Amino acid sequence: MAKNEDNPRKTWRIRSFSQRGSRLGHKYDELVALNQDLFLRMAPGASESLVAPRAEFSLAQAFGREAPLIVEVGSGSGEQAVSYAEKHPDVDVICVEAWAPGAARCISRIVHSGVTNVRVLQADAAQALPVLFGLANAGVNDPDEALALGPAINPEHPNSANPRAQEVWTFFPDPWRKARHHKRRLVAPPFATTVSGILADGGVWRLATDWDNYAWQMRNVVETTPWLENPYVGERPDVNDEEPERGGFAPRWEERTLTRFEQRGIEAGRTVHDIQGVRKPRV
Ligand SMILES: C[S@@+](CC[C@H](N)C(=O)[O-])C[C@H]1O[C@@H](n2cnc3c(N)ncnc32)[C@H](O)[C@@H]1O
Repeated sequence: MAKNEDNPRKTWRIRSFSQRGSRLGHKYDELVALNQDLFLRMAPGASESLVAPRAEFSLAQAFGREAPLIVEVGSGSGEQAVSYAEKHPDVDVICVEAWAPGAARCISRIVHSGVTNVRVLQADAAQALPVLFGLANAGVNDPDEALALGPAINPEHPNSANPRAQEVWTFFPDPWRKARHHKRRLVAPPFATTVSGILADGGVWRLATDWDNYAWQMRNVVETTPWLENPYVGERPDVNDEEPERGGFAPRWEERTLTRFEQRGIEAGRTVHDIQGVRKPRV
């Protein structure tokens, strides 16, 4: 058992999200109550948005089939996940969203669109995904310790047999603009290690942001994660980059829906950067 497993007093855990406002109103409450089967309900952990480190969960049972899997981290109201799922009924999509009203909006969007291949996991992705995929770092809150364990699967974890994801998406994660808040950014080495653990060999981590400084960080994280490869290394250099000749940015992914977060960034005159990391084959 990891030494700080599920111990709420050992709170090294970094939160990359904020719980701003928590109610949406009765209409959403009713809809959520009626559609509980759209949630991936994992046994709860020691505090809100955590899951129990050994919460057993079968993805094949939850979706009622085995299909290529996509995990969207921080899906907000699910615009991207649902629009993609509508066009690709052959894939299963998990929306991981820590913010309860976001998860409720996502449920609403799923119900109104009629898609049957999207489920919502209302949890902190950094803590819940290692558990859902049975990684060695499941239950470890200390980022340094999680990093040291790498992306290994723990064969004794009840979820180690869950299939790996073909894609992980992290679009417009909270930018945590102030330098003193950069440590709260999700796209950092510990989370990149987790993504490396849940991706299938050759699987793709797709990222996008409208904050320059976060774009450079995403590129740096992908290129320094030993289990990932940036297929666009050196491409599309940006004069505003702290290393203007370095590049490393992907073209805009044509299947990425324009969400209100991207729209807001564009209206404010910011540049959107896409970044990709491809999972190197396990040896
Ligand atoms: C700025 S919004 C972007 C939403 C969406 N991806 C889009 O492009 O419209 C970022 C979302 O990520 C969620 N989030 C941040 N950190 C998270 C985490 N560790 N686990 C799950 N969700 C997270 C936030 O609650 C928020 O809804």
